[in-house]
Amino acid sequence: MPRRIFVTTALPYANGPFHIGHIMEYIQADIWVRFQRMQGHEVHFVGADDAHGAPIMLAAEKAGQAPEAFVAAIAAGRARYLEGFNIAFDNWHSTHSPENTWFSQDIYRKLKAAGLVYTKAIEQFYDPVKNMFLADRYIKGECPKCGARDQYGDACENCSSVYSPTELNNPYSTLSGAAPVLKRSEHHFFKLSDPQCVEFLRRWVNEPGRLQPQVANKAREWLEGEGESALGDWDISRDPPYFGIPIPDAPGKFFYVWLDAPIGYLASFRNYLEGNRYPQVVKERGYERRWTFEEFMADPDNEQVHFIGKDIIYFHTLFWPATLKFADYKVPNNVFVHGFITVSGEKMSKSRGTGIDPLRYLEIGMNPEWLRYYIAAKLNANVEDVDFNPDDFIARVNSDLIGKYVNIASRCAGFISERFNGTMSAAHAAAMPLIRRMQSSDDCWSPIGRHYNDREYGKAIREIGGFLDEINQYVDEQKPWQLAKVEVDSWKLHQVCSSALAMFWYATVLLRPILPATAERVRHFLNLTDDQMKWGQHSFFPGNHAIQPYSHLMTRVDPKQLDALFDIDKEQAKAAASTPHPATPAAETQRPAAPATISIDEFAKLDLRVAKILKAELVDGADKLLKITLDLGSGTRTVFAGIKSAYDPAGLEGRLTVVVANLAPRRMKFGLSEGMVLAASGEGSGIYLLSPDAGAVPGMRVK
Ligand code: 2FM
Ligand code: ZN
Repeated sequence: MPRRIFVTTALPYANGPFHIGHIMEYIQADIWVRFQRMQGHEVHFVGADDAHGAPIMLAAEKAGQAPEAFVAAIAAGRARYLEGFNIAFDNWHSTHSPENTWFSQDIYRKLKAAGLVYTKAIEQFYDPVKNMFLADRYIKGECPKCGARDQYGDACENCSSVYSPTELNNPYSTLSGAAPVLKRSEHHFFKLSDPQCVEFLRRWVNEPGRLQPQVANKAREWLEGEGESALGDWDISRDPPYFGIPIPDAPGKFFYVWLDAPIGYLASFRNYLEGNRYPQVVKERGYERRWTFEEFMADPDNEQVHFIGKDIIYFHTLFWPATLKFADYKVPNNVFVHGFITVSGEKMSKSRGTGIDPLRYLEIGMNPEWLRYYIAAKLNANVEDVDFNPDDFIARVNSDLIGKYVNIASRCAGFISERFNGTMSAAHAAAMPLIRRMQSSDDCWSPIGRHYNDREYGKAIREIGGFLDEINQYVDEQKPWQLAKVEVDSWKLHQVCSSALAMFWYATVLLRPILPATAERVRHFLNLTDDQMKWGQHSFFPGNHAIQPYSHLMTRVDPKQLDALFDIDKEQAKAAASTPHPATPAAETQRPAAPATISIDEFAKLDLRVAKILKAELVDGADKLLKITLDLGSGTRTVFAGIKSAYDPAGLEGRLTVVVANLAPRRMKFGLSEGMVLAASGEGSGIYLLSPDAGAVPGMRVK
């Protein structure tokens, strides 16, 4: 029975371009969708921009634009990324849309009718200059426990204590600098703690196969919390100014962005089903019927599946299913959760915009399928972080993808073109046993199909790798390059190369969800129809099947491309490999001479701070660098410094030094460098780290 599945990925905030974390999630979902379609299932795959909320409103204001124009401009940039990485959403929409307004208001009305919405006045900080209520993230002040300055309204970065913003000493609004005042306002709440909600969620969460075990555990913990951690009701309203959807029966109030964000999944799906492209898709993909939104959602056999990251589990396993359930909508069948992507072990930070820039990846000509393959190889069904490691990336692409897969075709195709008029021999019996084995492992219940279905892509790739090894072993044993030297062995050469290409064909079918563009090139090269590239395709090459001359399917990664990706120019690439970070002492002599004078204002731009070296480590593959973890009083930083020749790492730990704290963070091959430690050096070889006099403490300003 073909499955019918409605698939979504988390909706990205429309306040910036995609980062590598978004692309990883879309690649994970796209592979799953392509796999299900190759199985003959009907899959509708939609995304949208998450357009509402205070941060977007403020970002638009800062850009001097109306929020509508601001989010539209962001939306206009999405296609480059999605097309670039072969991510084939059926539709991309926005939460700022008529469909979403309709669904949000409908759901709200039904929840209210079910007795699950109530209002209550609450007291909150208000910015009297900006004239708006302030979310915790817009309030800073002195930590009530340790007195550290400039701490956020929820927790102290210095002593880690947790508190509410009203406990801060000398609070100020980060928007205007003004002291906030407490002000009361009526808010709308969704009664998540209602026994019928809790009862429903218990059943929903515990349904076998619904959630990954780690995710179900987390959800159970929240559901069963007691006392301080008991399940609370959900504040779903916001006061103006707010960019959002008006609450129908409460003039001047808006829905909190997180209420209407997941509803955007439904909005995009409806927009798709009612758009012009859908009837065409139904025809092209040979779907049995054309659905209306209501019909699709009413059929209990139809599945609804959401791919999300681990930071938004709470919203998707509690609020979302509960609001759907009690508004009489279909509830999700699965929520598939993935971890974060780290780069060389470093967590990327959205606000500092670090990590890998996906657009830069494409612009410097890196192949999107390298990244799809690499990410797939590292993904499993657990909620684990995936690390992008440049050396590992080069090794996996060059030795596995090119060395084991592409090379099969490149080693055999030339003989077919040159010696046999571009036609394959029908007698490729040698390929049959392995192809049968590959084919028998591609249905839902055998290893490769099961791994794809379970999002165990790393395991699928390992299984396919086993087949590739066998194909290569066959070619190595048969030695076509030697057969080619002996005229009487010609028939054998024809058989061997045809067998190898037949096996290559099926390996391509198995890899197709991960490498759609490469598979398409292979389809042209092998002169096959789209049907012949489908999963479970048991047809075989007839005699004298003509193929196209081979042209390179994929090139190797050049390590220089990784340097370019990490923004290391020639000079800096040298610095990263042999000498230090460009902004470290040993590079000093290459810098232009300092001007004779600078103004005090120019000097004031430098934020020099006393820092304590918490940890100093050697860096694999770097001759002159040490990786240094610094305590700056307000938090820790990592800095790469070219001082290895002068200091033993262990001896540095615990000492104080001076750091340029506001130097733009710099992405390096080895990780992110978030500042520069100061050291002196002269004509000779010595490097001398600066230290403050006794009594100085981390965080003190040097001026
Ligand atoms: O965390 C985020 O980036 C949110 N914009 C995700 C929303 S997912 C869904 F609910 F729309
Ligand atoms: Zn503190």
